[in-house]
Amino acid sequence: MGQPLNVGIVGVGAIAGQYLSTFERLAAVRLVAVADLDAARAAAVAAEQGVRALTVDELVNDPEVDLVLNLTIPAAHAEVALRAIAGGKSVYGEKPLAATPAEARAVLDAARAAGVRVGCAPDTVLGTGVQTARKAIDDGVIGLPVAATATMTTPGHERWHPNPDFYYQPGGGPLLDMGPYYVTTLVTLLGPVESVVGAASHTRATRTIGAGPRAGQTVPVDVDTHVTGVLRHVSGALSTLVMSFDSVATRASNIEVHGQAGSLVVPDPNQFDGDVELHELGGSWVTLPPSAGYRDAGRGYGVADLATTPDGVPPRAGGELAYHVLEIMTALLESAGSGTTVAVESRCERPAAVPLSDLPQSDTPLRDVPLSDVPR
Ligand SMILES: NC(=O)c1ccc[n+]([C@@H]2O[C@H](COP(=O)([O-])OP(=O)(O)OC[C@H]3O[C@@H](n4cnc5c(N)ncnc54)[C@H](O)[C@@H]3O)[C@@H](O)[C@H]2O)c1
Repeated sequence: MGQPLNVGIVGVGAIAGQYLSTFERLAAVRLVAVADLDAARAAAVAAEQGVRALTVDELVNDPEVDLVLNLTIPAAHAEVALRAIAGGKSVYGEKPLAATPAEARAVLDAARAAGVRVGCAPDTVLGTGVQTARKAIDDGVIGLPVAATATMTTPGHERWHPNPDFYYQPGGGPLLDMGPYYVTTLVTLLGPVESVVGAASHTRATRTIGAGPRAGQTVPVDVDTHVTGVLRHVSGALSTLVMSFDSVATRASNIEVHGQAGSLVVPDPNQFDGDVELHELGGSWVTLPPSAGYRDAGRGYGVADLATTPDGVPPRAGGELAYHVLEIMTALLESAGSGTTVAVESRCERPAAVPLSDLPQSDTPLRDVPLSDVPR
């Protein structure tokens, strides 16, 4: 493998630690700098990691940085990504790609014009859980896929997150926060979506923080907190979605996929692994051994996957997929408001399947070629 891709992180809050610990075992990427609106937070992480603490402007223009890892809150995703692209950097961001499809399209257009690459979480779908389910479907084990169900219920992240404000502002909510895991999995398993029907509700005007220095404070709720709907895939399959910050518990599977010859239980798409269960017609439930995906993966594998994807080929956790997922989610909310079916205009290829492997690998020198998603 060539020189690793040099990564600078903007936004070192709650989720950053998971990326930092994964990077220690990924030869394809190397952390070189961090930045945050909170300079003291950036300085602390920089000291711990032995890298430079910079301002955001310095980081996006730093000659050593190849890719900006954008771990800011959703409302800042597009702004930070555009600044990084203007600095000539590829970007990989936490989900969602941006708060709105218009902002997300601006990011993809700017990246295309600049000849840089865009990646986006979730990369959990590259792990053995979702990839083993995908291989079973692609191998025809359940026959023609007809339907899927996806259920995410929680009483709300404010119980544990010290700064949960963003979960209850536009760009957050159960759909835009957790939906990317579920919808990205559904597109990975069943292909792109052409239209949606949605319904949504909003039960409380405020939420009370349950942990950290702000415990007991309330945050305003400006989004729907229970969202449900049906996605019509281009293939004809129908996926039923329930995403809720208003539910205490569930015994429903995270995701089930039903085909004419069998049904599959897909593990939590917010995790990289987990058991895939199969029930064939006339049989009973059996657990499938992992047969595809990155083993023992963690947040950050999508960055390494991007770094090892050849120039001109979209990375698996790529911008067009993230855009399609964002458009599907936005269309669901639009449908919930209008009470009508809403068409989804964008299309994306199903990302390339991940063979069973330990790490994203490539013979291509990484730093030695400018990486772009666009064929040259
Ligand atoms: N917390 C989790 O468990 C979790 C899990 C998966 C994904 N995510 C995603 O990760 C992202 C970040 O979530 P988090 O929980 O780490 O949030 P957080 O609020 O804990 O951290 C965000 C950090 O970004 C900084 N920041 C915000 N705007 C900025 C800007 N314009 N420029 C520079 N720095 C800026 C903040 O100061 C903060 O340190 C979100 O998109 C979220 O959906 C979070």
